[in-house]
Amino acid sequence: MTIADSYAIPGTPRRWDVPQDYVTCFNWEFAPERTRLLGLYERGKTMQWNATDRIDWSQELDPENPQQLPPEMLPINAAPFFQRMAPREQSEIRRHHQAWGISQFLHGEQGALICAAKIVQQVPDMDAKFYAATQVMDEARHVEVYKKLLEKFGTAYPMTRPLQTLLDQVLQDRRWDMTYLGMQVVIEGLALAAFARIRDHAQNPLAAAVNAYVMEDEARHVAFGRLSLRDYYPQLTQHERDEREEFLVEACYHMRDRFDALGLWESLGLPVEECLRYLQESGVQAAFRSRLFTRIVPTVRDIGLWGEKIRRGYEQMGVLDYAKVDIEAQGAEDERVAREHDARRAHVEEVIRAAE
Ligand SMILES: [Fe+2]
Ligand SMILES: [Fe+2]
Repeated sequence: MTIADSYAIPGTPRRWDVPQDYVTCFNWEFAPERTRLLGLYERGKTMQWNATDRIDWSQELDPENPQQLPPEMLPINAAPFFQRMAPREQSEIRRHHQAWGISQFLHGEQGALICAAKIVQQVPDMDAKFYAATQVMDEARHVEVYKKLLEKFGTAYPMTRPLQTLLDQVLQDRRWDMTYLGMQVVIEGLALAAFARIRDHAQNPLAAAVNAYVMEDEARHVAFGRLSLRDYYPQLTQHERDEREEFLVEACYHMRDRFDALGLWESLGLPVEECLRYLQESGVQAAFRSRLFTRIVPTVRDIGLWGEKIRRGYEQMGVLDYAKVDIEAQGAEDERVAREHDARRAHVEEVIRAAE
């Protein structure tokens, strides 16, 4: 079954056209490349991988709990109306909830593909164009793997409204750095925290591997955003930096409070108010909502958007402490986990060969 045939919400559009109005920059200077960006470009080239061979796509999902996640990862798990349901009904809701999540990953990755291509066109420096070109290929691969994974669910959901609003805003903005801020910093930062949750808790080997390999690439994308913006923001006026900080605070609030799967609960015919209350109040969800920012806050500080506005905003959200997180160590750890998945697969294949 194709994705288009499996949308759970009737009338889901088949495409989304975003009118664009920005300046494409040719660079005829070919200035010497910045060493660190060039190093990242080299890594981007050598760390390309083929999703067809690296992942064993013959593995299946679990019919009752596709990614084999702990029960409390369903936000409404403790709700009395859910507890009263028959096991079959509960697994159906679990399947839909997980399909909703992977659908958002898939749509977000297509957003990243398009944003990376926009950066290639708009960013003035050639070294940044080089790197962004490798990211375009990475993001195409991410769309490919989440599409393949989602097909195994047999159910798909459209892009949730808050994500679409933020993407629309970022794509319409004519300033090249706003694409980085919206995509590389906010959306990818949130996505990394959400991918990590599946990678680290899924007992299903296919779901865990897909997220581990995507995260290996994302570690470079976050580094790219940091290296490019860190050089750029000190050149702006205070007023221009304030505008960026305002955007960041607003985007973070928006993503935290509106990413509530409203469309999912509605389409499943569940009591929406109650679902949202569990989402806001349950301890597991509250912890997750703040952990979403572990990848964003240290990056924001690192790129020098660390004025009064941002610190106050993060303080109010209770996430200011994440500024101390070591992002480079986090990236290195993501790469290590991906290699661990490679080693596990090699080991399984060896065991099978020996048995034959
Ligand atoms: Fe990606
Ligand atoms: Fe990315």
